[in-house]
Amino acid sequence: MNKLRPVILDGDPGHDDAIAWMLAKASPMLDIRAVTSVCGNQTIEKTTCNAQRVCTLLGIRAPVAMGKPAPLLARPMNAPSVHGQSGLDGPVLPEPNAPLSPLRSVALMAKVLRESETPVTIVPTGPLTNVAALLLAHPELKPKIETISLMGGGITHGNWTPAAEFNILVDPEAAKTVFESGVPIIMSGLDVTERALLFPADFERIRRVGNRVAHVVADWLEFFYGFHRELGYAGAPVHDPVAVVSLVRPDLLTSRPLCVEIETRGEYCRGATVGHDRAPANALVNFDIDRGGFADLLVEAVGTYGEE
Ligand code: RIB
Ligand code: CA
Repeated sequence: MNKLRPVILDGDPGHDDAIAWMLAKASPMLDIRAVTSVCGNQTIEKTTCNAQRVCTLLGIRAPVAMGKPAPLLARPMNAPSVHGQSGLDGPVLPEPNAPLSPLRSVALMAKVLRESETPVTIVPTGPLTNVAALLLAHPELKPKIETISLMGGGITHGNWTPAAEFNILVDPEAAKTVFESGVPIIMSGLDVTERALLFPADFERIRRVGNRVAHVVADWLEFFYGFHRELGYAGAPVHDPVAVVSLVRPDLLTSRPLCVEIETRGEYCRGATVGHDRAPANALVNFDIDRGGFADLLVEAVGTYGEE
């Protein structure tokens, strides 16, 4: 029996964050030790409320902690056009079945790292504010971080600006801190996540699994696809779950090690993730995904949930 991998999920749910957490919970390889919210798709209050409701829906029993209310230096920036006013518009979700942790995100992350017998993997699927704050406040805990498998950036292009992807652009200073930390990084940027496309036929495959989580995930995908269809996408680029695929099914991915540096000063390029091989690699960067295998994995994952 392979040893379980302890993980901390850090995100700004967000439809694709929620689907990433559904995949993580369904994986027999992962042991979710904590969930932390971050300000990104919506305000920290809204992403925290969404995190609690998603964990209740999925049966994630790990503590949920509220993250930092704003990026390290930048002013908060949200994405209501993509995820709606609640940050997770669409299906009604259950009321939280557990109180928030009395600890805030950095304190909970540090506690989990300190108490874990083995190094912990952190899976950020929003801006890197909490992870950077953890690294700055507790550099002594770096050896207790196995890997940071993140969704963010794009070597060849951005989405919020031509140069920058949303998660990195919201907090470039945090991203710079993380990519310069020396902690091993797996980067799932737009290069791979815009190939992680799910089409309406995939939404229906998921819905036909028939349990409550299957219906909610199909509803999330339909809502999330609505914004992208307006932009001319043939399907929904389901970004965040790829950070989990990197851990549970790396065989579905094509990757290469690169040195990734974060632009924090450019007038037009702030938040760009500049990848090159002119210096030692600091990240394993995913560039392609077996789309059919990805869709099959999500169908299989929703099938692990009960009928309730
Ligand atoms: O650019 C895509 C990223 O921004 C995803 O993590 C999505 O949830 C939003 O946070
Ligand atoms: Ca996200």
